[in-house]
Amino acid sequence: MILSPSLLSADFALLAEETDALSEAGISWLHLDVMDGAFVPNITFGPPVIKSLRSRSSLFFDVHLMVRDPLRYIDDFVDAGADLLVVHAEAETHIERTLEAIRQRGVKAGIALNPATDLSVLPWIADVLDLVLIMSVNPGFSGQSFLPRSLQKIAACRSLLETSGFPDIAIEVDGGVSPENCAALVEQGADILVSGSSFFGHKPYSESLSRFAAPKPVRRKSCLTWSHAR
Ligand code: DX5
Ligand code: ZN
Repeated sequence: MILSPSLLSADFALLAEETDALSEAGISWLHLDVMDGAFVPNITFGPPVIKSLRSRSSLFFDVHLMVRDPLRYIDDFVDAGADLLVVHAEAETHIERTLEAIRQRGVKAGIALNPATDLSVLPWIADVLDLVLIMSVNPGFSGQSFLPRSLQKIAACRSLLETSGFPDIAIEVDGGVSPENCAALVEQGADILVSGSSFFGHKPYSESLSRFAAPKPVRRKSCLTWSHAR
């Protein structure tokens, strides 16, 4: 299992120090929540902030785009230093075209599904997909409670990917993830867990990381080897 701390819960006045501290603690991924105030009722940051962090960090940048019509911004986020771009199924009319555009720029492509969005789109786009992000809260804010029905959705997603012939597509879970529920999430099939408030609420970050213990995956997945290579 990979833990991807969500920068949304870090100290925004000290972003550079925070990312350095994550690397020192043995973290390899960083989850960057981009919100546009239209797809979700909150505004965070965009390419300039990511570009600045990229200049001093070699973490794998896992960029979660909570923006309407994300195709307009794919080049900007790749140029800023994203390694993985995750777009919402609910935010784009031509989702396959958007995923292809991400892949063509040489970065990993992911699709995020809100809690009320069905999994049925997945087999139809699986050949242009590296990752599925299951939202376990309604997106917009950190610190919300985990929706228990997400456990069933993770298991159904894992099963659907296996039976459709795409077992290597990674499953990421985002929202209300904590040391208390992380083992259950991995057991249902999650490969990557995003954590904001639970992770950043404890220091030092090496100790915070060790609180997220989870069983080892049965099968090694390629997402375990993804890294910032550009
Ligand atoms: C929610 C964001 C999440 C959030 C997670 O819209 O996509 O990444 O920051 O924060 P916690 O772990 O506090 O729910
Ligand atoms: Zn997120």
